[in-house]
Amino acid sequence: MTRTLTKETPQKVGEKVILMGWVHKHRRLGKLVFFDLRDRWGVVQVVVREGDALDAAKKIRPEFVIRVEGLVKARGEKNVNKDSPMGAIEIEAQVITIITEAQTPPFEIENENLQANEELRMQYRYLDLRHERMRKNIMLRHRVIHFIRNYLTDHEFVEVQTPILTKSTPEGARDYLVPSRLHNGKFFALPQSPQQYKQLLMVAGFERYFQIAPCFRDEDARADRSPGEFYQLDLEMSFITQEDILQLAEGLFIALIEHLNEKLGKKYHFTQKPFPRLSHADAVKQYGKDKFDMRKDKNDPTELAFAWVLDFPLFTKQTEEDYFHGAGKTLAPSHHMFTAPKEEDVPLLDTDPGKVRAYQHDLVLNGFEVGGGSVRIHDPKIQEKIFDLIGFTEKQKKNFHHMLEAFTYGVPPHGGIAPGIDRLVMLLAGEKNLREVVAFPLTGDGRDPMMGSPSEVEKEQLDELGIQIIKT
Ligand code: AMO
Repeated sequence: MTRTLTKETPQKVGEKVILMGWVHKHRRLGKLVFFDLRDRWGVVQVVVREGDALDAAKKIRPEFVIRVEGLVKARGEKNVNKDSPMGAIEIEAQVITIITEAQTPPFEIENENLQANEELRMQYRYLDLRHERMRKNIMLRHRVIHFIRNYLTDHEFVEVQTPILTKSTPEGARDYLVPSRLHNGKFFALPQSPQQYKQLLMVAGFERYFQIAPCFRDEDARADRSPGEFYQLDLEMSFITQEDILQLAEGLFIALIEHLNEKLGKKYHFTQKPFPRLSHADAVKQYGKDKFDMRKDKNDPTELAFAWVLDFPLFTKQTEEDYFHGAGKTLAPSHHMFTAPKEEDVPLLDTDPGKVRAYQHDLVLNGFEVGGGSVRIHDPKIQEKIFDLIGFTEKQKKNFHHMLEAFTYGVPPHGGIAPGIDRLVMLLAGEKNLREVVAFPLTGDGRDPMMGSPSEVEKEQLDELGIQIIKT
């Protein structure tokens, strides 16, 4: 007999089955033992009345891994649990085998409301992930990514893996650096996004690229900002206008939400469709900020208020805190240095650059920026002008020479967008922190208490890299 999954049990009333999983809730009632058996799909109630099975059942404790051979029975009308798909049946156990025993976990798995503190949850993340809520969040994340991959593949996009060991990128946060052993004294940077590679893929002629891309930024964490790595749905298209990018992304998000409603029984609904479009100036005038919340009912967890913000200024005044490659000059790119100015504003680059509007588009959802992108500059002369305006030195310009050079070999007009996967799934799951939708996240202060990272390394390893640690 093959293993039956808990979700398959409602169709097997009257049949003998073998189930395997973890003991969830466990209780004795007089001579009977009841427990919930949990597998990747949920829980099913097992009742043990007599015989050897009862002896074994008395030995089991929560989180033991067991095998149950038994009969699927319909529950009496008044015992049906309407909250669970497996609530109309129970398993009458005949044979119970303990596969592995388990210590008492440091926090309860069965009681979702009794949340341990963050440190403990992260230290025992593999147990924290046993919580129903976490399992559902990770499954939702998988569904979202799976749908996106299929949708974009159906729309002729090609997924390409771009390098992780690379060079500083232009998103403007601090880089994570990786020392090179073969080239002592030199460092790779982990990508803040695949921005340059995706543009170079357009020069290469792929025309439609996407990637579920790991991105790394050394930033201070916020509830909606990871202090280390996060994932983007990174995409880029050639021979397009801004309108094409907006249409593609909006079509994808609407189809995704409809898919989740249909396949997962979700009840998401849009505040407005097509998504409203606001200029940056209007958004700031109306809401006081460019990440605004247009929901009609902010307490409705199923309401999704998507909106586009357009016509950003190409430059913002750089603040003291801005960390970015052109630090020192007063102008910083609002988005990044490859974003194209609107054609009609190009003359202003020479006269009043602060007034130039950009082909930048941000996608806002319920008050969060879930995606950002732009049409790119494909004229090397304009690109150089932007470098000058943001105060690049000759040395800094050299770092991007390959881009300017690539653009001399036949570059199509191109542009794209990169919605943040973690942020999107956080909002869809109704969670308040990115960590709740990431399997193994860092803590708010950038550590992994389970693996013990970041960690010190052996002296030999440092010697090989030519690195000496100076304690401050
Ligand atoms: P940008 O820097 O705006 O654009 O990032 C795009 C989206 O990525 C998500 N995001 C983050 N999510 C979690 N933690 C973080 N620290 C974090 N930082 C960013 C957000 C954001 O909207 N290369 C460009 C895209 C492009 O031009 O196509 C880029 O990275 O949801």
